Amino acid sequence: MLKKKLLIAPSILSADFSRLEKEVNSIEKAGADWVHVDVMDGNFVPNISIGPAVTASIKKRTKLPLDVHLMINDPGFYLDDFIAAGSSIITVHCEVSNLNLIKKIKAKLAKHKIKMGISLNPATPLSQIKKFLTYADLVLVMSVNPGFGGQSFMPEVLPKIAQLRKIFKGIIEVDGGITDQTAPLVVRNGADMLVAGSYVFKAQNRTKAIERLRNAGN
Ligand code: DX5
Ligand code: ZN
Repeated sequence: MLKKKLLIAPSILSADFSRLEKEVNSIEKAGADWVHVDVMDGNFVPNISIGPAVTASIKKRTKLPLDVHLMINDPGFYLDDFIAAGSSIITVHCEVSNLNLIKKIKAKLAKHKIKMGISLNPATPLSQIKKFLTYADLVLVMSVNPGFGGQSFMPEVLPKIAQLRKIFKGIIEVDGGITDQTAPLVVRNGADMLVAGSYVFKAQNRTKAIERLRNAGN
């Protein structure tokens, strides 16, 4: 049986925003599968980053699908804007969701053929998303406290990834502190998709950096 390809989603949070088009083109050329777009509202997390207008501008400049990670308190309120911006996956945090909201978001995304992701912070137990899992195409496991790029990977999330793999058939994406050292650990525990910000954008050679991450699957 063919092994599933490990998907690599560089986070443009670590890009040089003054030359965003070139940065997005560079990771596309370097072999990225998705562009990870970190949206922060200065409320759910103590940082402010990108909104729907910038997301829509990125969409115009790349063929890669946009993996939009909403670190915001009111994902329902902004959902239409991120659908219109051209997202291919929209991930919301379970810490600010309830079952009703998840069902509503899922129904809307399905209509637009957009994948639904649900994310959980390092301190959030798996039990908090169990009832959401039937609506999720993807679960994004945070391996740092969300808000900033360049933080260190938290190995205590590894058992959570392994437990999730046992009960969830969809895509498991891991986000935060991913390097060539930490990627093999998360892949061994069941990850299908890796987000990497600083590791890819700060690399001398982004093609090689993405290759090294992808080799973590072997
Ligand atoms: C953290 C973001 C991550 C971040 C990852 O709040 O959700 O996507 O950009 O950056 P690195 O790979 O540098 O930890
Ligand atoms: Zn992210």
